[in-house]
Amino acid sequence: MQSEKSFVSWFRDSSPYIHAHRNKTFVISLGGEAVQADDFDHHIHDIALLSSLGIRLVLVHGIRPQIDQRLNKLNAPALFHKNLRITDDLALQCVKEAAGLVRVEIEALLSMGLSNSPMAGSSLKVVSGNYVIAKPIGVIDGIDYCHTGEVRRIDSIAIHQQLDQNTVVLISPIGYSPSGEVFNLSAEQVATAVSIALKAEKLILLTEHSCCNPDNGEHIRQMTTDETDIFLQNHKAAPDLIKLPLTAAIQSCQAGIERVHLINRHIDGALLQELFSRDGIGTLISSAPFEVLRPAKLDDIGGIIELIKPLEQQGILVKRSREKIEMEIADYIVIERDGLIIACAAFHANEQDYFGAIACLAVHENYQGVSRGGRLLNYVYQKAMQMKLKKLFVLSTQTMQWFIERGFIASNINNLPDPLKELYNPQRNSKILCKNIE
Ligand SMILES: CC(C)(COP(=O)(O)OP(=O)(O)OC[C@H]1O[C@@H](n2cnc3c(N)ncnc32)[C@H](O)[C@@H]1OP(=O)(O)O)[C@@H](O)C(=O)NCCC(=O)NCCS
Repeated sequence: MQSEKSFVSWFRDSSPYIHAHRNKTFVISLGGEAVQADDFDHHIHDIALLSSLGIRLVLVHGIRPQIDQRLNKLNAPALFHKNLRITDDLALQCVKEAAGLVRVEIEALLSMGLSNSPMAGSSLKVVSGNYVIAKPIGVIDGIDYCHTGEVRRIDSIAIHQQLDQNTVVLISPIGYSPSGEVFNLSAEQVATAVSIALKAEKLILLTEHSCCNPDNGEHIRQMTTDETDIFLQNHKAAPDLIKLPLTAAIQSCQAGIERVHLINRHIDGALLQELFSRDGIGTLISSAPFEVLRPAKLDDIGGIIELIKPLEQQGILVKRSREKIEMEIADYIVIERDGLIIACAAFHANEQDYFGAIACLAVHENYQGVSRGGRLLNYVYQKAMQMKLKKLFVLSTQTMQWFIERGFIASNINNLPDPLKELYNPQRNSKILCKNIE
């Protein structure tokens, strides 16, 4: 019974994300290590589920270990300069073999539809093609990189045409030149270029490690691009397996991708946990802060109603119609976290009579206790100060103590300014609290 209940509430909780992600374009980059891992089919099942939920998917796969294994078999050294592979003729042969093999393996897994597997009935379509146009890196520091290249252009129109047909697009880290040459590319660079060219909503990098602070081992939940830059400056010795995705994340965000997710591919179901749960499991990198306090917009009304509905039902907040919120939306401030409204307050100012009232203060229960309510109150107080108001009022039935601890004092109806007196509902019998603004 308990597990049925938690299943239902889990499924309901994930529904805002299902709506939010539908018809959005996500680019997912998986390293060659992920492809040859035993649990790779789990990732493929999750990817198939994302596609079934209407997400437009581009997969970019890596082939680094597969190239190394081939070179090793041939007793040929893997040549690198400044962490970049030098692709001589022999290495290029290995690149082509590795890319072909990995592509076929992924296509095969995406084609699965066995009735007793999570892929039953999925009938996914997948295409690969010459979507990446590349040019040679050339000679750097006197070192000829031979067939190692860099992305010149992405045929985004052709990729979008495939995505419009609900087809998953699979891209190898290989590019072609107009003269028919083949270049070995970095998978992270391809994923970055593809996400930028497609104006994707998200770039998701499945990584070998979780992104942790090397100083204290703590998992980093989110960083802005500026913070990521500082992190890289301060941790120059961090392994490439972390530095490369972080660099890709900065580049993508700077080019307009709103959210880049780094997810440890060793965690089973990590993709689903990251995309369909409130706090995710990976590291989110974005140019704008992950959580912002800002004036509300009309688009926020749905989120505000969702947030305050349970509090209205419990009688903690007075009932407000959608129309009333719509009319007063300019008075509202919200805290938005990863696209969701998690806190709000309304500040009704009366400049003529030098007073203001705070109303509809609410913080979602999962986010209480870390000063979000305090920040909203402080914002209102600062605004009231700028407007040179003299008093701030609040009516409360169950939260008096919270306001008293923040400098409000109990007052009575005789001290209420007339416009508030007219609105006072004696049946509700709210306590009246007031704070002088100084
Ligand atoms: C009141 C509310 C906005 C505070 O938000 P918040 O982000 O948790 O606020 P803060 O982190 O700044 O403050 C947390 C502290 O307030 C306390 N607190 C929470 N609700 C309280 C209440 N009704 N009465 C007294 N104290 C309360 C918490 O116990 C916590 O104290 P602690 O740190 O000593 O444990 C939030 O609890 C909420 O939305 N409550 C339901 C709606 C509501 O009552 N709105 C006010 C209508 S007038």
